[in-house]
Amino acid sequence: MNNWYRNEYKNRVFAADIIHLKPGTKIFMCGWAFRFRDQGGVIFIDLRDRSGIVQVTARKEVIGDDFKAAEQVRSEYVIAISGTLQERSPDAKNPKILTGNFEIIIDKLEILNHSKTPPFQLDEFDESGEDIRLKYRYLEFRKDELKDRMINRHKFIFSVRKYLNDKGFLEIETPILNKSTPEGARDFLVPSRLNPGTFYALPQSPQIFKQILMVGGMERYFQIVKCFRDEDLRADRQPEFTQLDMEFSFIDEEDILSNMEGLVSNVFQEVFNLSLPTKFPRMTYAEAMNSYGSDKPDLRFGMKLYDISDIVKDCNFQVFTGALNSGGIVKAICVKGGSNISRKEIEDLTSWLNKDHRSKGLAYMKHTSIGLESTITKFFSADSLKKIAEKLDSKEGDMVFFGADAHTIVNNSLGALRLRLSQKYETPDPNFFHISWIVDFPMFEKDSATDELFAMHHPFTAPQDGCITDMDTIESIKSKAHTFNSKAYDLVLNGNEIGGGSIRIHDEKIQQKVFGLLGITPEDAKHKFGFLLEALQYGAPPHGGIALGIDRIMMLLTKGKSIRDVIAFPKTQKGVCMMSDCPTPVDIKQLDELKIRVVSV
Ligand code: AMO
Ligand code: AMP
Repeated sequence: MNNWYRNEYKNRVFAADIIHLKPGTKIFMCGWAFRFRDQGGVIFIDLRDRSGIVQVTARKEVIGDDFKAAEQVRSEYVIAISGTLQERSPDAKNPKILTGNFEIIIDKLEILNHSKTPPFQLDEFDESGEDIRLKYRYLEFRKDELKDRMINRHKFIFSVRKYLNDKGFLEIETPILNKSTPEGARDFLVPSRLNPGTFYALPQSPQIFKQILMVGGMERYFQIVKCFRDEDLRADRQPEFTQLDMEFSFIDEEDILSNMEGLVSNVFQEVFNLSLPTKFPRMTYAEAMNSYGSDKPDLRFGMKLYDISDIVKDCNFQVFTGALNSGGIVKAICVKGGSNISRKEIEDLTSWLNKDHRSKGLAYMKHTSIGLESTITKFFSADSLKKIAEKLDSKEGDMVFFGADAHTIVNNSLGALRLRLSQKYETPDPNFFHISWIVDFPMFEKDSATDELFAMHHPFTAPQDGCITDMDTIESIKSKAHTFNSKAYDLVLNGNEIGGGSIRIHDEKIQQKVFGLLGITPEDAKHKFGFLLEALQYGAPPHGGIALGIDRIMMLLTKGKSIRDVIAFPKTQKGVCMMSDCPTPVDIKQLDELKIRVVSV
C-alpha cells in the first residue's frame, strides 16, 4: 500500500461524523462508491462506509490528474479520498440523508479495488428474492436494513453483558462437543475419529452443564451461546440459534421472574427505547389455552375463545352435541366487524383449518340487526342464541365462528384462526409490545393413545410443592401425574415464545422418580445423565434458570419477518447455507478415517 494511504489513514473520518466538523476541515475517507454521477467536468460520488453516506465531489480543476481515476469509479468500487469539507449551496442540500448539507471537495482519489456489478440493488428499493440475498450475504450487509439489525443485535448483547456483569453473573463457556441434552429435538451428531463408532452431540442447550456449574458453586451463570436443534424449520426456528442462557442458585421462581423483569426492561429501554411495565403480567397455562388456544398467546388484541358447551348442550345441531357426547368441547370466537367475511373466505379458512389443524368444519353466524343469523341458527333456541351473543359480547356487524371437537383440536384451530383474522380485524399496532409470563405449566404431557408421559419442559424441571414427596412411589402417582403442575415459566412477547425456564430438581431421589414417570429406566438415566445424577449427590443447591431466544427477540424488536433477518449467516428453511452450499458430501477419505459409510440416499 502506498505512503499516501498509510499516512492519511490514521486521520480517517467516518461519513456520519462529518456533521460535527467545521467546513474547511481537511478530510480523509475510505469506503465504497455507492452511486455516482458524471457531469462532464464534475463527478459526484456517494461514498459509503459503515457509518453512512457522504457526497464526495471531484472537480477537474481541484483534483487535477486524479480526475482520470474518478472517471473510472463504478458502483461498489473501493476508494480512498482526501479533500476539504464544504457546506453545499442551499439548492443542492439533501435533507433525506444525515450528511445532506455537506460535500467533500476531493483533492486526491485512489481506487483501492474494483467490483463486479452487484446482482441486486444495494438500496431500499431492492426487491430481489431472499435466496439471492442469502447467496451474496456480504453485499446485503452493505444495505442499511441488515447492517442496522446487526448493529442493534450487537448493542443488545453488549447491554445484556454489561447488566449481568454488574449483577454479579459470570459468563462461562460450556462444551460444544457434548453428550446429548434432552430438549426434545433431534441432535446433530459429530463422529469421533479418535473413538470410532462413537459420536458427540451438539448441544441443544447447555442445560446439564449449567446445573453442574451450580453444584460447583458458581451461583450466578450466564452465557450467550449457540444451540443446535435438528427440527423442522420455520420463520422463528433455525437449526443453530443463540440463547441468553442463565442459571441462579438459592432462588425460587419469584426471584427468577423479577430478576428477568429487571434485565429485560433495562435492556429493551437502553437499546430500543421501549418501556415495559416493572412487573410483567402473568397468565396460567390453563387460562392461556382456554382463552387463546395457545401457550404463547398474542395478548395485544382480544378475540378470545369462549367455552359455550353449557349453552349448546341441548341444541339440535348434531355437530355440536356429537362433539360434546364424545367428551369434546364447543368454543366460539367473535370477530368484531367481521360480518362482511364472505362465504368464499370462510370456505378457504375452513379448508386451511382442516389441513393444518385437523378441524372438521367451521360453523359461523353473522350478527345482523335481528341477532345471530346463519343456516344453522334453526337448530338453536332463541334463548341459546341470545346467551351465545351475550357471552361473546357480539354486536351487529360482528361474526361468530365455532369449533366443536376434542379440546386440543378446538384450541389449536380457533387459536390459529384468531391469529390469522387479526391480520385484518383488531389488528395490533405494530409499535405496541406486549410481554407476559405464562406460568403453572403442567409437568407432563400424556399421550392419549399409549398413556405415556412426556416432560412438558425438560426432565430436570421441578414439580410444584407437594406433587411428588419422599413417600411417593412411581406406581402410587403414575395415574395422576398428568395433573401435576411444574415450576416452569415461559416469557411471551407479542405471541412469540421468547424464553423458557424452570426451577430444577436438586434432590436426586425426586429426579429419579421423575425419570421413572417418564419411562426412563435407571440404566438409561445412568447412561444418559449419570454425571448429572451423581453431581446432584454432592451438595446441589436449590437452583433454577431460564434461556431467552435472542434471535426471536431481535426479530420482533427490529420488525423482521423471520429470524433469518437478524442472523448474520442463516440457513434456509431446508437447512442449507446459500452462500457455501453446505451441507455437502465429504471426501471418501474423510469418511474412511471416521469409519463411516454412507448408505445410498
Ligand atoms: P427452550 O427449549 O424453551 O429452553 O429454549 C429457550 C428459548 O430458545 C428459543 N428457541 C429457538 N430459537 C430459534 N430457533 C430454534 N430452533 C429455537 N428453539 C428454541 C426460544 C425459547 O424460548 N434449557 C432450557 C432453558 C432452561 O430451562 O433454562 C431451554 O433451552 O425463544
Ligand atoms: P354440515 O353439517 O357438515 O353441513 O356442517 C354445517 C356447518 O357446521 C358447516 O359450516 C361446517 O363447516 C360446520 N362444522 C362441521 N363440523 C364442525 C366442527 N367439528 N366444528 C365446527 N363447525 C363444524
